[in-house]
Amino acid sequence: MSNSEATTDMGSTTAITTQTETGLYIDAKALTAHLPALSYRDEALHIEDVSIKAVAEQYQTPCYVYSKQAILEVYKAYSDSFASVEHQICYAVKANSNLAVLGILAQAGAGFDIVSRGELMRVLAAGGQANRVVYSGVGKTYEDIEFALNQGISCFNVESISELSLINKVAAQLDKSAPISLRVNPDVDAKTHPYISTGLKDNKFGIAHEQALAVYEQAATMPNIEIIGIDCHIGSQLTEVAPFVAALDKIIELVHALADKGITLQHIDLGGGLGVRYIDESPVSIDEFAAALLPKLTQLDLKVFFEPGRSMVANAGVLLTRVDVLKPTEHKNFAIVDAAMNDLIRPALYQAEMAVIPSTLSSHGIETKDSQAWDIVGAICETGDFLAKDRLLALRAGDILAITGAGAYGFTMSSNYNSRPRASEVMVSGESHQLVRKRETIAELYANESLWQAE
Ligand code: LLP
Repeated sequence: MSNSEATTDMGSTTAITTQTETGLYIDAKALTAHLPALSYRDEALHIEDVSIKAVAEQYQTPCYVYSKQAILEVYKAYSDSFASVEHQICYAVKANSNLAVLGILAQAGAGFDIVSRGELMRVLAAGGQANRVVYSGVGKTYEDIEFALNQGISCFNVESISELSLINKVAAQLDKSAPISLRVNPDVDAKTHPYISTGLKDNKFGIAHEQALAVYEQAATMPNIEIIGIDCHIGSQLTEVAPFVAALDKIIELVHALADKGITLQHIDLGGGLGVRYIDESPVSIDEFAAALLPKLTQLDLKVFFEPGRSMVANAGVLLTRVDVLKPTEHKNFAIVDAAMNDLIRPALYQAEMAVIPSTLSSHGIETKDSQAWDIVGAICETGDFLAKDRLLALRAGDILAITGAGAYGFTMSSNYNSRPRASEVMVSGESHQLVRKRETIAELYANESLWQAE
């Protein structure tokens, strides 16, 4: 057996995980001590003051549930930690784009980082202000740019010369000036999963650090372009601060080099990427992140933008699922649940390890007689359809399980594969709860399709 220990808020250490010969045991209670939205009360899992079982009963499963307070707490942690510099937190909409989530953040004063017209329309529908929106992404089309300019967004984060020329052209046709920053690829190793590492030379993102100066000079000659900032985003789920500091150093070099050429900026955008604890990761806290960056940022006299996605919402959310079938086999035990890779693709796509915890602790424990190693799998016809593998749990058909850390890149990456309707979403605040997205119906899945009738 090997244990991973973590210090609880009370200063004592509790083993969160124990690896046995058969599987991984996650001490659900010890884990929830690190997840502010969740707690066990009389052995029953709660999100804020609402029992998980009650949510599952009322809204059925699979169902995403989010804590309003948890979202706002992280937003406040970012704002407080960076209070000493002028800043704007632009929440990365792709992490969780439910209107309720966007609306809560808009009300709190957040800006938004978007990567499509669809995301911009969601932000506006949720009451967000266009002048607090930055528009990232490598493939903006004429229509995307036209829409964003007409709405009056704050900045385009430009990723190539051809995009720059296109923005200039659209702006000229609308007789507008387009505010831009260049997304610079600083070529630092984010030390994260290769699919979510974006700041290396061979990634498709950004403009190479060595070319940035020349592209800025070219931008300065374009009549309908207004240079206002500089941007970078080096990857996601970073647990250390060093790559952020390395990227900042490279960006600061450029800020000075640009000033020498007479190009002055108004803001610096450091992207998103701060990691979260899924099971026993120990990412730097927002405070530590700020402490490492602030000494450099305060010397710049530039407004600072951040684009956090995952860290804002991952641990504000859980995916609830019901155990439908227990299928022990000679080699493995499978628990087939009513959520699947179409609901939550992170385990299948990135081999992401996410915690699966019971809605009641009554028979949970590493030594309980019912504890066995289970693969938690969906009902989709793919071997890759798993949510977790080799987890020690005491399971019975009908049990409700919660997959934690599912508030980010959960629902937004879900699909209708195998003609499965997408899950419902519920927001909780204190004792209140509300359905914030209805479960799709099966009829809706093919409502836009038609039978072939052309001959
Ligand atoms: N800004 C830009 C330009 C981005 O591309 C991203 C994420 C963010 C901000 C937000 O990064 P965050 O704070 O969430 O790390 N689906 C993957 C993560 C993909 C991240 C893509 N870009 C996952 O589930 O792990």
